[in-house]
Amino acid sequence: MAIKKVCVVGSGLMGSGIAQVSAQAGYETTMVDVKQEFVDRGMNIIKTSLGRFVKKGTIKQDDADKIVARIHTSTDLKDAAKDADYVVEAVFERADVKLPVLQQLDEVCPKQTILASNTSGIPIGLLASATKRPDKVIGTHFMNPVPVMKGVEVIKSLLTSEETLNVSLDLVKSLGKDPVVVKDSPGFVANRIGCVVWNEGAKLLEENLATIEDIDRIVRLSFNWPMGPFELADLVGIDVLVDLLEGIYQQTGWERYKPAPLLKRMVEIGYIGRKAGKGFYQLFGKK
Ligand code: 3HC
Repeated sequence: MAIKKVCVVGSGLMGSGIAQVSAQAGYETTMVDVKQEFVDRGMNIIKTSLGRFVKKGTIKQDDADKIVARIHTSTDLKDAAKDADYVVEAVFERADVKLPVLQQLDEVCPKQTILASNTSGIPIGLLASATKRPDKVIGTHFMNPVPVMKGVEVIKSLLTSEETLNVSLDLVKSLGKDPVVVKDSPGFVANRIGCVVWNEGAKLLEENLATIEDIDRIVRLSFNWPMGPFELADLVGIDVLVDLLEGIYQQTGWERYKPAPLLKRMVEIGYIGRKAGKGFYQLFGKK
């Protein structure tokens, strides 16, 4: 099955990143969202990212312009997805938001179209249940920032077909990424690990064991990670982390995934990380 047209549903950080790497790989790409202002913001994220590649000489300005021109935008899901060969859904990370989108995509897309979800933890089997093509539903979990991070979890549900898996693996590789196939289990693999680290970081802070600067520093220096837990939490979004933790906790009952109360308090007061301009570093960092 040859993929020519890719549709990305959702134009946030993840959706715009996926649309960017799709267009960079030469696919005719449509990015769709519910409001024009969201789509415009997504295009700006893409232009800024491409600008960074141009600045360091990885790509030429002319190529960046061609990549931008390859991305069509839309606020009409039906129109955007009606002739797509491959759709990546990257809407808000909640099952009650994703399920109606999957259902609509199933109605409007050609019957052979593969429907992938960029969910970071919602079961693919559950998302597939909103469609009449569960064999063509798969998870493609990209990492933030998408244009830079090479890892992608490809999640096969109990009903995902081998063909869907193989086409998806080829597509992900063609985007310059390195896919890893994982089973459809709460939090998959990356976030089973990540969530423990983020949650434990918040608990260290609750216990006042060290400053966030020092916790991040010792993690960076000890494990050679580019970011410590608080820097990464601010990048990913604390609201996303709480949803992820709650999702895993509700499905498994494993105490280690019960969100630290501090994380929930931060979401309640709007300190959800970089995207809101305030997160761990604004609340607890050295003033
Ligand atoms: N587009 C293009 N280039 C970008 C970019 C973007 N959006 N973001 C960063 N870069 C480039 C920079 O231009 C720079 O390139 P250079 O080294 O060739 O000059 C390079 O990446 C490093 O960027 P910076 O110098 O600005 O900053 P850092 O050195 O701190 O790197 C980072 C930023 C790439 C984000 C790095 O800190 C990193 O890898 N952090 C860890 C990210 C991570 O773990 N992501 C996974 C999160 S978990 C997830 O997404 C799953 C979800 O479900 C929760």
